[in-house]
Amino acid sequence: MIIAANFKTNKTRAQTREYMDELNRFIHLEKIRAEVIVFPPLTALDSFTGTATVGVQNAYAVENGAFTGEVGTEQLDEFGIKTILVGHSERRHVLGESQKEITRKFNYFKALGYRIVYCVGEKVETREAGEEALMAYITSQCEGIDLEYENLVIAYEPVWAIGTGLVPGKEDIRSIHAQLREKSSRPLLYGGSVKIGNMDEIVTIENVDGVLVGGASLYVQSFCQMIKTAEEKI
Ligand code: PGA
Repeated sequence: MIIAANFKTNKTRAQTREYMDELNRFIHLEKIRAEVIVFPPLTALDSFTGTATVGVQNAYAVENGAFTGEVGTEQLDEFGIKTILVGHSERRHVLGESQKEITRKFNYFKALGYRIVYCVGEKVETREAGEEALMAYITSQCEGIDLEYENLVIAYEPVWAIGTGLVPGKEDIRSIHAQLREKSSRPLLYGGSVKIGNMDEIVTIENVDGVLVGGASLYVQSFCQMIKTAEEKI
């Protein structure tokens, strides 16, 4: 089971440190076996003591150079970071990253052996067009991506479910994850409005190997409670 927290553009360096201290204390005291990953904002990257993995929400496919506003692997290496989110819907649809750029990023970090949490998910109009259209769209988001990369984790996150409180039905998640499973044997996370109240149901769905949590991960107590729920399902 993999439980990941995406802070997005939230939390300062000091708030992140406090959060990580509390989270790592919880993991240690409760002897949590699930893998916990946290993606803080770039300004809060640091070295932390404890077993939770720290990853980046984004980086440029370069070691260093002239790419104003970006960070490369030189900056990640300073903190021993080897985990990255690629293809998140906000980068695709808000920041305009194309599949071509995403594929280039994926291949760059794959060649360096990074753990890649690769996100896919449809917009509402695609969902309304039916499951065939939905799967065709997700397949197009996997173009150029090695779905059997040994350090890959796939996150299915419907765009319309992110930050909205809306979640697909249990049967929809089961069906889409079953079809993703046919494409890849790597862990499959569900993401989109996961919270304490629906965690129990989501982590028991077949082929759901964990969750990627945005808003509900911002309070460390809530996130710890969600980890505990997932832990009981291991
Ligand atoms: P949410 O975000 O949990 O706030 O819906 C999930 C994500 O974007 O990864």
